[in-house]
Amino acid sequence: MKLPFAESWKIKMVEPIRKSTRQEREQWLKAAHYNVFQLASEHVYIDLITDSGTGAMSDRQWAALMLGDESYAGASSFFNFKNKITEITGFPYIIPTHQGRAAENVLFSYLVKEGNIIPGNSHFDTTKGHIEVRKAIACDCTIDEAKDTQLELPFKGNVDPRKLENVLAENHDKIPFIIITITNNTAGGQPVSMRNLKEVRAIADKYKKPVLFDAARFAENAYFIKMREDGYKDKTIKEITKEMFSLADGMTMSAKKDAIVNMGGFIATRLEEWYEGAKGYCIQYEGYLTYGGMNGRDMNALAIGLDENTEFENLETRIRQVEYLAGRLDEYKIPYQRPAGGHAIFVDAMKILTHVPKEEFPAQTLTVELYLEAGIRGCEIGFILADRDPVTRENRFGGLDLLRLAIPRRVYTNNHMDVIAVALKNVFDRREAITHGVKITWESPVMRHFTVQLEKI
Ligand code: F0G
Repeated sequence: MKLPFAESWKIKMVEPIRKSTRQEREQWLKAAHYNVFQLASEHVYIDLITDSGTGAMSDRQWAALMLGDESYAGASSFFNFKNKITEITGFPYIIPTHQGRAAENVLFSYLVKEGNIIPGNSHFDTTKGHIEVRKAIACDCTIDEAKDTQLELPFKGNVDPRKLENVLAENHDKIPFIIITITNNTAGGQPVSMRNLKEVRAIADKYKKPVLFDAARFAENAYFIKMREDGYKDKTIKEITKEMFSLADGMTMSAKKDAIVNMGGFIATRLEEWYEGAKGYCIQYEGYLTYGGMNGRDMNALAIGLDENTEFENLETRIRQVEYLAGRLDEYKIPYQRPAGGHAIFVDAMKILTHVPKEEFPAQTLTVELYLEAGIRGCEIGFILADRDPVTRENRFGGLDLLRLAIPRRVYTNNHMDVIAVALKNVFDRREAITHGVKITWESPVMRHFTVQLEKI
């Protein structure tokens, strides 16, 4: 008999988590104005708000913390970090930053000017924010199929080459670079194929434009290439990642995801010009060039995390858990962005809460219901997150309205996945009775979802 699949690690340290009663949760959530970002984490049983900085470090990573060199300049930890990044990506120039958005801030301070257009595939919110704050435009060239949650495609994060080429042809002189987000978080943690990365490279070369990867989940992307794309099944993850990065000129990285650290990020590039242009902003905003907002110990742990998480077994354990949860939701016929993404399941709220009008925010309503049901904290990636149109100030109801269940790396077991699935099923079973959503009582002008205050209708 074939042995069943099991995790590629065992557990050495645990952190207790606490259940609560529905009555307690009702009080806590009301006090949090029905915004799960305002909840104390002690009031959460299973926390799926993000996979960012929430992973469990390995014993090797914890051991490396003790060997951190905290010298201000020239720390050996910096060279551990730099050499590992260069080994994995092939990029020789490295700038450390405290997290992903800081890498964006440093690099874009050099690269992005007023009136620029930056084409890519579903720019992440902070990426878009750092573009828009410089009075430039983030132009989304993701394939249209990504918007149909029920369509099953292997590489739903891809760029549409025709859209990209049109933008380049029309706005050639306004485009400083092309950005590709791997995996495509906003489209549901969906991967981008190697073939697509090559197509982007060819278009970029034709118009003589550099390509930047937003590489927060590049290792998960490489896993999907290995599993789904012709010609890659016998290649190692490290071979695949090397090939991916050979198609780019540089990357910004939130190491809180695929390097499995609680804090950290970097810029890596092969362009001396980018390095020289950006490094002054690192010193100004982050810190000196050999720490950029990180401790020596964090850089040590990051180097090891990057190495471990570009090994197949680690990624297989991780992504199979997300697929396991997806399989449980399939049993209950709960609709989500198909196929399951690398880091999360994105539940399609509008297909579930059909009686809640979009003006009453179905995905946020589902987030609230799931928390009340079982103390599980997901996160709305929908109409509240989309903010208002900067010109008309109307809500933007054009996109998808999803409840994201982000799975931290190496943290929960499949028993927790079962609890999540059944809790969601219980909400799903009473969906017809959920006829009212939430209304906004206070909001900030941008990035409102973190601080928005809501009332139940
Ligand atoms: N790019 C992508 C694709 C991301 O998903 C994130 C963060 C960032 C950049 C910014 O990195 O948080 O280190 O500053 N995503 C988290 C999430 C917050 O929950 O999806 P950061």
